[in-house]
Amino acid sequence: MTQRIAVYPGSFDPIHNGHLDIIERCRPLFDEVVVAVLRNEEKRPLFSLEERVETLRELLADHPECRVESFSGLLVDFMDKIGGRAVIRGLRAVSDFEYEFQMALMNRRLNPRVETVFMMPKEDYSYLSSRLVKEVFSLGGNVNGLVPEIVLARLHKRLRPPAPSAPVTPAVV
Ligand code: PNS
Repeated sequence: MTQRIAVYPGSFDPIHNGHLDIIERCRPLFDEVVVAVLRNEEKRPLFSLEERVETLRELLADHPECRVESFSGLLVDFMDKIGGRAVIRGLRAVSDFEYEFQMALMNRRLNPRVETVFMMPKEDYSYLSSRLVKEVFSLGGNVNGLVPEIVLARLHKRLRPPAPSAPVTPAVV
């Protein structure tokens, strides 16, 4: 029997709880869920591709039906490469719709074998985006409960590293 493989693509810079909620919702619907991290170094992401992939692999380590891969180039080509049929995209609000609709139709034109499936995250996360997480955190705001612990730790390390201890100046006598 053919495996039903879904691909959940994105930048995941960083992954937040809204993304994880979508992955949880996909798991019972497909045989395999491939989380596909876009190589987008030209957009100067906060976390490197390797860091984003590593974080996701850590978070999904207990889910054998989830795989984390990176990709560059066209998403539809990646879909063909791994035999994926469904692209999963999260829809948070009507404002997401226009861009997502354009992307879904373009992807369908490029590769009619690919279907896009839209999923709604839990309402608590309907305002959440990676961009807001980075902005709020870098300005000193609290993002507890919006990102997993390991992402919080990585945000601290990257954006609020501990201040270097003051050099010890010899006492002048
Ligand atoms: O999390 P994001 O940044 O909204 O994800 C966007 C993503 C990765 C799904 C989209 O940019 C993408 O598919 N990029 C790959 C290049 C491609 O296929 N472009 C044509 C899209 S119609």
